[in-house]
Amino acid sequence: MQTPIYLDNNASTRVDPSVLEAMLPYFTTDFANPTNVLHLPGRTAAAAIELARSQVASAIGAESSEITFTSGATESNNIAILGVARRAVGRFRHIITSSIEHSAVLEPCRQLEREGFRVSYLPVDSYGRVDPALVEQEIGEETFLVSVMAANNEVGSLQPVAEIGSICRNHGVLFHTDAAQALGRIRTSVDDWGADLLSISAHKHYGPKGAGALYVRKGASQLLSPLQYGGHQEHGLRPGTPAVPLIVGLGAACHLASTKLDEDQRRLEYLRESLRAIITDAIPDAVVNGHPLERLSGLLSLGFPNLDGDLLVHDLDRVAVSQGSSCSSGSFRPSHVLLAMGLPDSVLRSTIRFGIGRFTTEQEVEKAGAYVIEAVKRQRAL
Ligand SMILES: Cc1ncc(COP(=O)(O)O)c(C=O)c1O
Repeated sequence: MQTPIYLDNNASTRVDPSVLEAMLPYFTTDFANPTNVLHLPGRTAAAAIELARSQVASAIGAESSEITFTSGATESNNIAILGVARRAVGRFRHIITSSIEHSAVLEPCRQLEREGFRVSYLPVDSYGRVDPALVEQEIGEETFLVSVMAANNEVGSLQPVAEIGSICRNHGVLFHTDAAQALGRIRTSVDDWGADLLSISAHKHYGPKGAGALYVRKGASQLLSPLQYGGHQEHGLRPGTPAVPLIVGLGAACHLASTKLDEDQRRLEYLRESLRAIITDAIPDAVVNGHPLERLSGLLSLGFPNLDGDLLVHDLDRVAVSQGSSCSSGSFRPSHVLLAMGLPDSVLRSTIRFGIGRFTTEQEVEKAGAYVIEAVKRQRAL
């Protein structure tokens, strides 16, 4: 079978060749444990980690000392949310988040509810955006943390994080943002966004899987408890021997993301619009989900009313895409994001996500568009 055209770059991206090249020596020649700086090989590995730390910091406008390496955005989100909650004392029992967060934020929040905390899951509008005024309304005496993602992974809507960050600052509440989809796709700045905590993941922007980081604003680190205990690595917040090659890859991918951001954004926007036009010209009732302007450039979420998304994705075996809602063993599991946006059942059931990336070509977009049109027509004829 032919290798499908890969249009699932919001799920994961290919490691950029220059990132891989930067990582390779740390598997082979420079493999020492960076915790042991008594010998030169250990110091070489430690220096590589510190370079990566400064690359990550510079990509988000932070200082190196504010970066903790983790295994990815899931772990960063868990450390941020559970870590702050474990330190919260007295009246601080309330967290605010949104109903469209990734499960890596929603699940730690649900765990905290089981432990007696109160969590508000804010609604979104039909574009999948949180209203900052609702955040302000919801903040009360007991609130200690607000966690709202920077960009949604299913429909690509950007959240008004700068407004939310400023509201949090005015009320003395910590602000965490899951920037897994943002870094490398939109300008990401902890200061402009007023973020005290920010999660990133390497594999969403051409780095390796298994690497990520948590930004913790200077001064906020004493408000966090570690979730694991062991060595003193990563400020004691994430003990264990650091994954040097992966961390080097994260650093290189962050550096590349900063230098290529404008070029990537322009190209992805162009390819996304081409794909949208090819498909919607032939299938005029296709529905584009998400905000028309405040959105990620490479992500296209399309609903095909009165089609079954599951059958469509199976039919589309020549294009690798993600499904919005899913159907397994005959039961329908609607996407919590599309559901929160209040989309009609016909769109909920038929939405698929196309994720265009740095390595997607114009020919691939044209071919993929033609395959989608064929598959939709075939499914509708059945
Ligand atoms: C918004 C968002 N947060 C968190 C994650 C989880 O990231 P990781 O795979 O690095 O744990 C993802 C990836 O799917 C994501 O899109």
